Amino acid sequence: MNAGKPSAWKRTVYCGEVRPEHTGQEVTLFGWVNRQRDMGNLVFIDLRDREGVVQVVVTSDNQSLLEEAKKIRMENVVAVKGTVKERDEKSRNPQLPTGEVEVVAKELKVLSVSKVPPFVIADPPQASEELRFKYRYMDMRRPAMQRSIKLRHQAALTVRNFLSHKGFLEIETPFLTKSTPEGARDYLVPSREYKGRFYALPQSPQIFKQMLMISGFDRYFQIVRCFRDEDFRADRQAEFTQIDIEMSFIEREDLFDLVEDMMVSVFELVGVKAERPFPRFVYEDSMERFGTDKPDLRSETEIIDLTEVGSKLGSNLIGDAISKGGVLKGLLVEKGGVLSRGQLDKIDQTAKKLGGKGIIWIKMQDGFKSSLKLDEKDFSIIWDKLRGQAEDLVLLVADEKATALKVLGEVRGDFVAKQEGDQKLFKFAWITDFPLFEWSEEEGRLVSMHHPFTSPHESDLDFLKKEPLKVRSKAYDLVLNGFEIGGGSVRIHDIDLQGRIFELLGLSEKETTEKFGFFLEALAYGTPPHGGIALGFDRIVMLLAGEESIRDVIPFPKTTSALCLLTGSPSEVGSRQLKDLGLKKIKK
Ligand code: AMO
Repeated sequence: MNAGKPSAWKRTVYCGEVRPEHTGQEVTLFGWVNRQRDMGNLVFIDLRDREGVVQVVVTSDNQSLLEEAKKIRMENVVAVKGTVKERDEKSRNPQLPTGEVEVVAKELKVLSVSKVPPFVIADPPQASEELRFKYRYMDMRRPAMQRSIKLRHQAALTVRNFLSHKGFLEIETPFLTKSTPEGARDYLVPSREYKGRFYALPQSPQIFKQMLMISGFDRYFQIVRCFRDEDFRADRQAEFTQIDIEMSFIEREDLFDLVEDMMVSVFELVGVKAERPFPRFVYEDSMERFGTDKPDLRSETEIIDLTEVGSKLGSNLIGDAISKGGVLKGLLVEKGGVLSRGQLDKIDQTAKKLGGKGIIWIKMQDGFKSSLKLDEKDFSIIWDKLRGQAEDLVLLVADEKATALKVLGEVRGDFVAKQEGDQKLFKFAWITDFPLFEWSEEEGRLVSMHHPFTSPHESDLDFLKKEPLKVRSKAYDLVLNGFEIGGGSVRIHDIDLQGRIFELLGLSEKETTEKFGFFLEALAYGTPPHGGIALGFDRIVMLLAGEESIRDVIPFPKTTSALCLLTGSPSEVGSRQLKDLGLKKIKK
């Protein structure tokens, strides 16, 4: 069937890149069989490679080739030599970039036969996530996956070029290291040499990048894998990638300027012109107006305080909540009047799951309809306050302030994410001035809201001792369409202040020395003022690609229950390996 060894054949063009200008040319293609159609005296093969699909046609001019082509099966790897021909008008396929042409095969060679595939390679995917993850190498043959992985490469390249041009050096930091506190559990690696001792995989390169500042590399970056043993969601993985940045001798403004400029370049990859400067909200303000520190600004709707009017309404439910020190908050859902009872009940359940008492809804359909009994006059007061229109929906929560904001923030986020609109609308924002600490009920102590190396505001230093929860920090997050895509801060560069923060976090002197002694010591040898940020690379690529989960832009992701279905990890290890490491298995 073939002339010459296929290994001697050289690809002249990718399948997906054959165009009318190749007409009349001899081409050599390599690809996977997407589909084979046997028409009797003609066989069509849709041949796929990373750039797309092209139609190959085998005619009865070459009988033996035709017979061979009839035997070809899906996902076989095939080499084709042939001539590019323009398709006649009626057989053109406008859906396909190669749809105006086909390749008339002269020689054809099956380089590899495939077993019957576990699922058809097509977009949208035709199989469950479990099955696709088990055969991820097949799943990645889908054009959408190929596009996402390519976009990932382009985004990384853009970032590298951008930062290199700005004088940043990419410097690697260790993976086998000591625990860094970013709030999650560590993945531990037992040491064979020093039995009973463990390395920790880094949750981030935080301490190392700060030490690089002390070393004098005043502009550092790294596109780096981080490891966190935490609960997974659509936007969280056990191992994920950060664009990690640190700079010396800067103000917060310098960093904002750099990151905004970089994000503009990255989003140009998908034809988006991001508007600068990105708006800024101090944490308190973001919580009050959007009920979250990662507001989705694709909608301008905000949570409105109705406590004052609420106390004058004739409703015991609202009155009681307010008299107990609670609040009444309202949210207008534009065009939400169409929501069914079932959908409104679901919102009520969400509110209860979040610890609230429930949600009150008001619609206007031949007068007011509501889950709450009120006078027409009172409904009007609320409706007007929120500037409701006939087809809108108003949601109210009467509860403790934090709960009311949480519930309406979550509901607002869901509505904005689901609303149909411009696919290319990207709304960035900075959230600044986070509290330095929060109280952990679970641990019964203060914990850092970002991490313990974050600088407090100088003007709040007096609160450190007596009212630490009042201290604002120089931390900031970058948010985009409701996702936190980055977080960073101006750092503490004063050893005494750093020591005080560890103390406030409840670390004894011994613990501080054991965990961070090396770092405190480093701070004592001439530390420049510095600050930085880490951006969630997977989340950025997910948003660039228009995907809903970071799993769609990570080549070999884990499931939400932390399993790699492809390799079967985590897996048991043999007793010999355990012995080497000085470990013993405990029976369950
Ligand atoms: P932070 O913990 O905020 O900051 O992480 C920075 C960004 O990384 C992304 N991210 C994740 N992405 C996927 N899966 C995860 N499990 C995950 N966890 C975090 C988020 C987040 O905004 N050392 C500090 C940065 C600094 O202060 O410079 C840090 O790691 O997009």
